[in-house]
Amino acid sequence: MRLLSIITALSLLLLSISCLENGSANDENSDPNLRNTVPFPIGAAVQNGRLLNAEVINLFRNDFSSLTAEWEMKMSPMYDDPNAIDFSTVDQLVDFAESMGVRVHGHALLWHQATPGWLENYNGTDQQFEALIENYIKEVVGRYRGRIASWDVVNEAFLDGSGNRRQSVFQERIGDDYIEKAFRWAREADPDVILFYNDYGTIYDTNKFNAMMTMVDDLIAKDVPIDGVGFQMHISYNFPSKNQITTATAAIVQRDLQVHYSELDIRVNPEAEDTMLTLELLDRQKAKMDEILEVYSTVPSDLQFGITWWGVRDNETWLRDFWNNQNEWPLMLDDSYNSKPVYESFMEAYQ
Ligand code: XIL
Repeated sequence: MRLLSIITALSLLLLSISCLENGSANDENSDPNLRNTVPFPIGAAVQNGRLLNAEVINLFRNDFSSLTAEWEMKMSPMYDDPNAIDFSTVDQLVDFAESMGVRVHGHALLWHQATPGWLENYNGTDQQFEALIENYIKEVVGRYRGRIASWDVVNEAFLDGSGNRRQSVFQERIGDDYIEKAFRWAREADPDVILFYNDYGTIYDTNKFNAMMTMVDDLIAKDVPIDGVGFQMHISYNFPSKNQITTATAAIVQRDLQVHYSELDIRVNPEAEDTMLTLELLDRQKAKMDEILEVYSTVPSDLQFGITWWGVRDNETWLRDFWNNQNEWPLMLDDSYNSKPVYESFMEAYQ
């Protein structure tokens, strides 16, 4: 592991030097790009193994100003071994972000889809389970205090349709108040970190949205340190509607909480009719992005945490696996890292 970190650090250094030699280090001050044009952070989710190439480095130099780990900051990769939390990959990601002057958003402390097997089958008492989770949250948040700006403390706590609590291992073993406890533990470990509740479907699933807002209001009433809400925004060019996005966003603003569109991808081929990326598909994606930016511009600037793409280029989107190899081009860059028209949405809105 150690050797791997050293090799990664060296490769990063070499790549940075070669970018400098090519003159691209000045790009951020010359050509208009997202970083010097858009007034709030634009982020991308990345996997550690995909960082080490010049295109990605240039993107984080010029366009993306926030980084989310697509996988590595979740509990199952970090806490695979019950005897030790493994920080090695996260350290690399944070080092990378710092070398680029990029903010790191932590994702996610508690998520039912990324719990280590041993934890799912944990045979200690509920009290021991809770102590273990408290320790995990405090260790992780505390280690990156001042370096990781924000965390999704709890991800996806509610069921689709009913809005009932999901029967995750956290819900089952700690109980209803696991969410407020998790936020308090995180705050104890870092007094300045920005703490989010993050979920999908809350824009259009009314029961789920209402359940989330009831929880948010309850946390606020109890002085639990929640600072913001993440809407994942795995959406399509034709759904959800601009009105739906506006209503959900306004509810968070009304509570004076930060709004993060935290996992944006915009499907252009949800009906699986197309086998090629055509101009029409590119245009429909851009039209949706225009709408999203119009809505986001109604959020006061101090509550605009940013918009994060869930991936960098189309051929690396998680959605192709998720939808069984269906043709999909949901991100901002094409397979070769070229900007798609959706990039222009940002430039047109803010230049
Ligand atoms: C996904 C990643 O994109 C995949 O690479 C990984 O295998 C599973 O997780 N909601 C979330 C994200 O909050 O963490 C998920 O990311 C996508 C759905």
